[in-house]
This record gives sequence, structure tokens and C-alpha cells, in this order.
Amino acid sequence: MSQVSTDYIRAEINKAVPADIRQKIEKIVEDNRGKAGAAIRVLQQVQGISGYLPPSVLQTVSGYTKIPLSEIYGVVSFYSFFSLLPKGKHVIQVCMGTSCYVKGGEKIMKTLKKDYNLESGGITADGKFSLEMVRCLGCCGLSPVIAIGTDVHRKVKASQLKDILSLYK
Ligand code: FES
Repeated sequence: MSQVSTDYIRAEINKAVPADIRQKIEKIVEDNRGKAGAAIRVLQQVQGISGYLPPSVLQTVSGYTKIPLSEIYGVVSFYSFFSLLPKGKHVIQVCMGTSCYVKGGEKIMKTLKKDYNLESGGITADGKFSLEMVRCLGCCGLSPVIAIGTDVHRKVKASQLKDILSLYK
């Protein structure tokens, strides 16, 4: 999981969860009360409506479920499908496994930072792209590799990024 800054957490805690989201969370908690694996199911469904799980939302979940916040954080940080950070419409995953790193992964990361102001865990200002660094996408022979959503782009050159990203509306 990418690093979450203290400023981000402070800002999120002070942010109020909108009333409509709060109501939906309450209903999700009620619908799952007493069911096996309720915490994971609740968090999955809540992420489905809020897109990600900021601290303010986790506090609300904790309040309704009466599960301590520390336990909720434990669940969220254990499963990779939960996200504490907002995700873009398209998630770019840049492979930084050994083969991809050696063959240009670092240059791809630098180009995304320079041209799109994107860093690992970050999101573009328009919310279109977010960036994640991953370890090996399983096609090392065709490195460097990036994935955008379910599309895998192989033998990517940093100079091709603009054209590749322009495919995503
Ligand atoms: S190291 Fe990148 S695909 Fe394996």
C-alpha cells in the first residue's frame, strides 16, 4: 500500500461524510448485521459507493458497526482490494519488478511525474488517472510493462506514454 501522509489523514478526518453517504453506510451496516464476515462485506459495499475508504468514512463505519477503528484499519490494510486513497477513472500500474526496472520502468515513472504530475499513490487533478507501482505483472520477457485498467502494455518506451494515455477517455 502506498504511503499516506499525515496531512492527508488530518484533512480527511476533518472532512464530514455527506448525509446521503452516511445514510447508505447505515443501511449497509444494518443489512449485514450478524452475517458472517460482516466487516469485509460492509467495507466492500461502502467502497462501492464512496469509491475508496478515506478515514472519515472508516470512522463512520466504525461508529455504526461498533467495531474499533483500529480493527477496521487492520482489515483495510490487509486486503489489497481496499483503498484508502482515491483512484482515477483509469488506474495506471507501472511494473517496477527487476526486469521492468532495469529496462525502463524508472524512466516511465519519471515521465509520468514530469508530464502528468503523477506519483505512486497519486491522482491527476482531473481525476482521470491514478498511479500505482507494482512488483511484476507476470510478463517479464516483454518488459517494461504497464497496465491501465485491464489492458497490459508491453515493451513500453517513455516516449510512447502520451499516445498510450490518449487512448483512455
Ligand atoms: S518484472 Fe515487470 S513484468 Fe515481471
